[in-house]
Amino acid sequence: MRVLSGIQPSGQLHIGNYFGSIKPNLDYQGKADQSFFFVADLHALTTVQDAEKLRAAREDIILDYLACGFDPQKSVIFYQSDVPEHTSLAWILATLTPMGLLERAVSYKEKLAKGIAASAGLFTYPVLMAADILLYQADLVPVGKDQKQHLEMTRDIATKFNATYGKIFTIPEPMIRDAVAVVPGTDGQKMSKSYGNTIPLFGSEAETKKAIMGIVSDSKGMNDPKDPDTCVIFQLHKLFLADTEQKALADEYKNGLPYGEAKKKLLAAYLDFFAPMRKKREEFAKNPAKVGAIISDGTERAQLVAIETMARVREAVGL
Ligand code: ADP
Ligand code: TRP
Repeated sequence: MRVLSGIQPSGQLHIGNYFGSIKPNLDYQGKADQSFFFVADLHALTTVQDAEKLRAAREDIILDYLACGFDPQKSVIFYQSDVPEHTSLAWILATLTPMGLLERAVSYKEKLAKGIAASAGLFTYPVLMAADILLYQADLVPVGKDQKQHLEMTRDIATKFNATYGKIFTIPEPMIRDAVAVVPGTDGQKMSKSYGNTIPLFGSEAETKKAIMGIVSDSKGMNDPKDPDTCVIFQLHKLFLADTEQKALADEYKNGLPYGEAKKKLLAAYLDFFAPMRKKREEFAKNPAKVGAIISDGTERAQLVAIETMARVREAVGL
């Protein structure tokens, strides 16, 4: 079984990215025959058009991946833009992607609504994403719920290709964990880099404290019973706890735990949980040569697979 996923370097990663994408991918590391986790930097160009920002975000995200526990012995880590087969395949897939399929993309419409310019790249974003996945013949793609439609489009495109040219591509399955499908942001909406409602994954302690203390809550009095099921603080805290601990905390809410106290507990849980990763990140940051070697090796291993698939695709379509 091959597992693959990626994240765009379009801003500082947050705990929604960790629980929705990084953690589920890490859980497969060592269990899958091969696992690929890449930096979707070509996708990021659809929204980040500032070279310095992109360069910094690309470097940061690799440190984030390594800090979180991607092990270069077990996972192939690389930048999408270092493997040119992604764009070659995207073009070929675009030639048989129906316009109607792309026109139905919710994420495209949402991005336009947020004021992002309607470029051809933004519109064809799902085709490049299909290429990312199909190039590696991935069986399983762990992602958050917001990516579900993109995965369905990938499956449609692969099915159409296979029906037209013969079976070349594995049809991938999305893997979306219900418990973390949508991690709420500090305002209760989906946590997202572009909504200004994030709790950073590796932000400074002050930045994180500010975000957590700013989480919205209802107007219940200090010691009134609280409903954990509708409370954003509890929904976030739960992510750090085992089932029995979740139940104990839910009881504290029902017994009137003040929101201020609840936030302090969440901050402590966050700091505890990410402390070892934070330390690991600092060590990698001090060793750019080591990080560079990991990327070169990952690129080489990714390219071996990509070249093989592209050769079969070229043959199949008559190039
Ligand atoms: P953002 O919305 O912050 O820009 P991305 O679109 O870059 O996040 O998402 C990267 C990965 O993280 C995807 O797999 C996505 O599904 C997951 N993800 C992002 N935000 C959340 C969230 N709030 N809850 C669960 N998963 C998320
Ligand atoms: N579209 C994904 C996101 O915004 C990033 C991505 C690009 C991706 N290519 C991918 C995720 C391939 C999984 C597989 O989060």
